[in-house]
Amino acid sequence: MNEAGKKAAALAAVEEVQPGMLVGLGTGTTAAFAITRLGELVIAGLSIRAVATSVHTEQAARAMGIPIIDLAGLAEIDLTIDGADEIDHRLFAIKGAGGAMLREKIVAAASRRMIVIADASKRVARIGAARVPVEVLPFALSFVTARLEAMGARAMLRQGYRTDQDNLIIDCIFPEMPDPCALAAHLSAIPGMLGHGLFLDEVDCAYIGDGDRVIRLER
Ligand code: A5P
Repeated sequence: MNEAGKKAAALAAVEEVQPGMLVGLGTGTTAAFAITRLGELVIAGLSIRAVATSVHTEQAARAMGIPIIDLAGLAEIDLTIDGADEIDHRLFAIKGAGGAMLREKIVAAASRRMIVIADASKRVARIGAARVPVEVLPFALSFVTARLEAMGARAMLRQGYRTDQDNLIIDCIFPEMPDPCALAAHLSAIPGMLGHGLFLDEVDCAYIGDGDRVIRLER
């Protein structure tokens, strides 16, 4: 982990925020740097509204004076800034170590532009080593676990954890991930599987921070 890299990536992404925008706010320690910076800019007079990807993010943003609105009834978010657990040159990402990937994916899908911010430790040649979290309806836990294991996953229930939607998370280790798109399609087809951490279409841009150096990857 590289706190300076996280912060540098976050500050670079916040440069893209323009007055009047509706901004999607991600969840996690890297997104927190972006929220803090946006809070400073709002205090200095920047007029934006935001949608939060988790209860924690909503509380943090409100505490900094960032106006938070509901996704309900909105057509489009201008720009979302969020972290990732892994990201590669295809801008395929794995997200959800913080458990918020279901809302994160909805907000990303509702966004005109989605930026991932990450320190250099998250950049990989090809995604696949990180655990892929899966949000599961509690009623379907055994069923979904069996389906995941039949797909070759080592499936581990995240102990003592409930999502903001009061669901469960199964963290999956896949021994190999030759085709993330096929895997995502198989995951999405499991009844009771409410959301997974593979983000394959959503990311438009990534800012990767290494110390105070930032590189930008654009789709
Ligand atoms: C939250 O559910 C996640 O998707 C985070 O965005 C991701 O785990 C990155 O978190 P950090 O910025 O804390 O590493």
